Amino acid sequence: MELSALYQRSLPVDYYREASFFQKEQIDIFSKNWLFFSPASGLKRAGDYITKKIANIPIVVLMHEDGNPRAFVNICPHRGASLFTKPCGHSASSQIQCPYHGWVFNAEGRVKVMAGPAPKDEKMCRDLSLTPVKLASYQGLLFVHLDPEPLAFSQSLAPLIEIWDKNQVDFQSYEEPLEKKVLGNFNWKVWVEGFQECYHCYYVHPQLKNDFQLKDYKIINYDLFSVHSCERKESSEQTGKNNGVWSWIYPNIGLPVYEYCFYVLQVNPISVNQTELCYYMFFQKNTSQEQKKVFLDFWANLTQEDVVICENIQTNLQSSYFKRGVLSEVRENGVLHFHNLLQNDLSRSQQKIEVTNFC
Ligand code: FES
Ligand SMILES: [Fe+2]
Repeated sequence: MELSALYQRSLPVDYYREASFFQKEQIDIFSKNWLFFSPASGLKRAGDYITKKIANIPIVVLMHEDGNPRAFVNICPHRGASLFTKPCGHSASSQIQCPYHGWVFNAEGRVKVMAGPAPKDEKMCRDLSLTPVKLASYQGLLFVHLDPEPLAFSQSLAPLIEIWDKNQVDFQSYEEPLEKKVLGNFNWKVWVEGFQECYHCYYVHPQLKNDFQLKDYKIINYDLFSVHSCERKESSEQTGKNNGVWSWIYPNIGLPVYEYCFYVLQVNPISVNQTELCYYMFFQKNTSQEQKKVFLDFWANLTQEDVVICENIQTNLQSSYFKRGVLSEVRENGVLHFHNLLQNDLSRSQQKIEVTNFC
């Protein structure tokens, strides 16, 4: 059956269930885009560090004595041990010592102490250095990029920064974030797709109908992000009195802003069918404990409703009875935007392979 012009095919089902596809995404998507890492608030003094795996790529960010944090892939080039094994902590020195055979690396990641004299070959020396990761900080939020020469963060997300600045998102007026994690048995894209539309809100989150004019829910797509907006119907204890503003940054970051709280949601793939949702909740400094509880209960319900439907979808994607879905250009324009960006990244690397083969 021909699909009408108002509908397009969704992604092939293998994208959600093949382990080899997950590895391809690590290289073509998660190593080629600015990724949210964590709030910078955990890096107060020299030696403080935070480790995190994003799409299973281990990264460490370490505060240096000069006040500038450095980021590396958290893997020792000698035999592959993790340099730091805890999620965060404090290291007495800005040098990095591998816990396996004690090799030491300076703050720039160059090997300083190893089993014997350093090799004379410059290439070998480079191979024995830590893999540097580009780091950018915006309003106390740290972003990383694994490509050695990425487009600058400010250029890459300039229009979004402008929108935040214009919409008086005053990051200084929030408390230090509260961290919440939810583990779900679904592919990360299933969650992002749900985030990128509110078509399902009528059915999955009926409580939102009381607070917002869901029929006027709007998504505007920009180069690497989307901005969702929705006018408020009634003010409520749980979502406050502001209109709804929710941003999404490709590939895996959600940024909903409510009156008392904005949060950064990192949709972090663990494997092809498992995803960790990391939430960093920033409450306005004057928010009472009671308001916080009301908001957190609202968030927990909403999240649980989405987890149930996403896990259900993943099970069906893994069955032999679903091949490929369809998307409405009107109600699911945000999902289509996500799919276009993803397909562009994947096809760019495909072209590179073809060019390499030709040469
Ligand atoms: S693996 Fe790091 S020193 Fe051997
Ligand atoms: Fe939802």
